[in-house]
Amino acid sequence: MELQVQPGDITRTAADAVVNAANSTLLGGGGVDGAIHRRGGPEILAECRELRRTDYPDGLPAGRAAATTAGRLPARWVIHTVGPTYAKTPEKYRQKSETLASCYRESLRVAVRLGARSVAFPAISAGIYGWPMADAARIAVETVRSLVGEVGDDIDRVIFVPFDDAAEQAFRAALDA
Ligand code: APR
Repeated sequence: MELQVQPGDITRTAADAVVNAANSTLLGGGGVDGAIHRRGGPEILAECRELRRTDYPDGLPAGRAAATTAGRLPARWVIHTVGPTYAKTPEKYRQKSETLASCYRESLRVAVRLGARSVAFPAISAGIYGWPMADAARIAVETVRSLVGEVGDDIDRVIFVPFDDAAEQAFRAALDA
């Protein structure tokens, strides 16, 4: 399983699955969530509504992941995951770091179940949810690396898609660590 950094707009990333930094309602939002729904089209929201009606009547909990069609995106699936909002206090930071790690872990497990061979991630929680980029990138890379044994035979490529220079530097530094 290869880990790559491809800066740009994740709605244009040609991976089998792209991960959305969603919120628990699954009904869209700003940031990458807004971009994916805008460019992916209404089919994505229709399937999100179906997820709410069936599997997640109370919303998708933070740290969990669920897949829909990718609609008009180059990808085949969107894997929606809900990151934690940043917290400074040590106790909350520890719990929420685990929730952020779970976003990557659960998204890759969903990807394996779908049969996706390549998965693209944005910097989950590092935008509106306020997580410091360097730490968000570190948790992302460390978590994906820790899963090579479990998913490495099923997933060929994991692509981190930073949206600006600072994010790109953070992910490249995390990969070099
Ligand atoms: N492609 C790749 N990355 C993007 C894109 C894009 N098109 N748009 C934004 N990003 C980056 C942001 O710059 C940030 O680094 O994705 C990262 C995550 O930022 P957010 O999208 O704000 O996600 P997050 O911090 O997890 O907050 C989630 O924001 O959009 C709402 O509905 C969403 O309530 C949820 C919250």
